[in-house]
Amino acid sequence: MRHSLARVIQAHGLATLEASSGAEALAMLESQGEVPLVISDIYMPEMDGVTFLREALRLYPDTAFVMLTGVAEVATAVECLKLGALDYISKPVLVEEVRARVDKALEKRDLVLQNRFYQQHLESRVRELDRRNKQSLINGVQTLVHALEAKDAYTSGHSTRVSRYAVKTAVQLGYTGERLEFLRLGGELHDIGKIGTREDILNKPGPLTPDEFEHIKGHAVLGERILAPALAESPMVLRIVRSHHERMDGCGFPDGLAGAQIPAEARIVAVVDAFDAMTTNRAYRPSRTPADAVDELRRCMKTHFDPEVVDAFLRAFNDVSALPISL
Ligand SMILES: [Fe+2]
Repeated sequence: MRHSLARVIQAHGLATLEASSGAEALAMLESQGEVPLVISDIYMPEMDGVTFLREALRLYPDTAFVMLTGVAEVATAVECLKLGALDYISKPVLVEEVRARVDKALEKRDLVLQNRFYQQHLESRVRELDRRNKQSLINGVQTLVHALEAKDAYTSGHSTRVSRYAVKTAVQLGYTGERLEFLRLGGELHDIGKIGTREDILNKPGPLTPDEFEHIKGHAVLGERILAPALAESPMVLRIVRSHHERMDGCGFPDGLAGAQIPAEARIVAVVDAFDAMTTNRAYRPSRTPADAVDELRRCMKTHFDPEVVDAFLRAFNDVSALPISL
């Protein structure tokens, strides 16, 4: 019966291999490699068809299985379907039926393989799009930072240093993955609202009048408004931009938040922003030494700065004399 079945299938245009038991078939698959289709009887010597099916599908999950069953074996055939066989043929075997079932099983297998190919292709395509999206967001951020730096020479490099200080400090506080990425972006963008600040005030060498100070304070809220459409999916970045001038004692701006009300990421940027502002030249004063700046951070712990963040910053940069970092 096996030989005549093989001849029917050969006449149908397919090459065949024959094995007289499940064990022999497994050995043959091991030496020949995966085959597209297996037709297997259920009752066989040494290893029955169900065991063979289970074992072969474990090793070759893409092989299409069609089982041969006797009239009394419908329950076993159903079990085979549950185990992953695509179809069964009842004995006595009719030539026309064999052709039809073989074609159908191979078609099903093709569909499964095609589906998987598209699925994998789709997943890698989505990943690629996601990567490009992120890259274009980062490019957009750089464009904005450059626009601000073209307007205010004193912020040149400031945003990037703040971003790097913030990330290293956050690592000490246990930040990982996406949160670090958002913090990096938030650091780069924290002062972006200064695009809307008048240049004569931005670059004023002397002390500011109360009106001028109010005008400068607007950069936190303006920055958030500028970025909101592009960064609606990154609320952490928006929180940094809005809240990086809040103080622990509630005397900061724009919302007068105190202590834990201030978003944690904004508390980090507040510390490193102050440190970088102190250790680089500004229009209104020359820079201080890093050691002086650290003293100032310590002096203003609790009133201005979150003590845990100051500690984390000092752990991240235990040799402050090497600061500011060069870009
Ligand atoms: Fe600021």
